[in-house]
Amino acid sequence: MALKNIPRIIGMKGACGYAPENTLESIKVAAELGCPWVELDVKLTKDNVPVIFHDETLDRCTNGSGNMADTLFRDLQSLEAGSWYADSFAGVKIPTLEEAIDVILEHELGLNLEIKPCPGREVETAEVALDYLSRIWDDGEKLLISSFQHVSLETCLEISPDWKRGLLMDEVLKNWPDLAKHLEVFAVNFNGNLPDFNREMVEAFIDEGYKTFAYTINDPARAKTLYSWGVDGVFSDTPDVIEGISRTRH
Ligand code: G3P
Ligand code: CA
Repeated sequence: MALKNIPRIIGMKGACGYAPENTLESIKVAAELGCPWVELDVKLTKDNVPVIFHDETLDRCTNGSGNMADTLFRDLQSLEAGSWYADSFAGVKIPTLEEAIDVILEHELGLNLEIKPCPGREVETAEVALDYLSRIWDDGEKLLISSFQHVSLETCLEISPDWKRGLLMDEVLKNWPDLAKHLEVFAVNFNGNLPDFNREMVEAFIDEGYKTFAYTINDPARAKTLYSWGVDGVFSDTPDVIEGISRTRH
């Protein structure tokens, strides 16, 4: 099981250092910067429409408020998700998964789709997202599905076993070897700024046969260190800043 081209850099939420996160504009900026892959978060509206959005609530990244889980898609469409970031992005919308995939395919990008369910929607979010993806996405070498939610990854394994999965970790989980094995993951995606994820830990992931990706790395010096430990790729808000580092030998 291998990705033909392991991404050395993955743009976070598109390229969210330069455009509002998880929007079509952010994906387009990543493509313009020459970033080969993007990471996006998918969750469901109240009426089960898969949309690209990070938070449980609408408050931070839109002009609305309340929980995504309680919001109908038609009500989401009246919100804008750009002016919190900069006035020049006023009017930008929360994209559906379908709209985001269209832009990704148009720009021939790879995708790390994070299943980021609203609480209690772990199974449905994976089911709906993968159901849509299975109808449109045909290059499994350019797709990595990840989640912090083990139930979501289990669902992905059940319904699309051939698509590669990444186990997300924001802290070292004591049972990670069992979890990774049980979920048959391809990669461990970990918080690359935490001291617990040190060289020894990264080498343990590699020794167990997993690819490793570290988030969120905006400091070129940190990227250099992680690459020198054998990390395969890093997620960055500003992928262009890391690009030169990713090509040098470590
Ligand atoms: O997938 C890596 C990273 O995006 C996970 O954390 O909170 O940015 O979604 P978060
Ligand atoms: Ca994410």
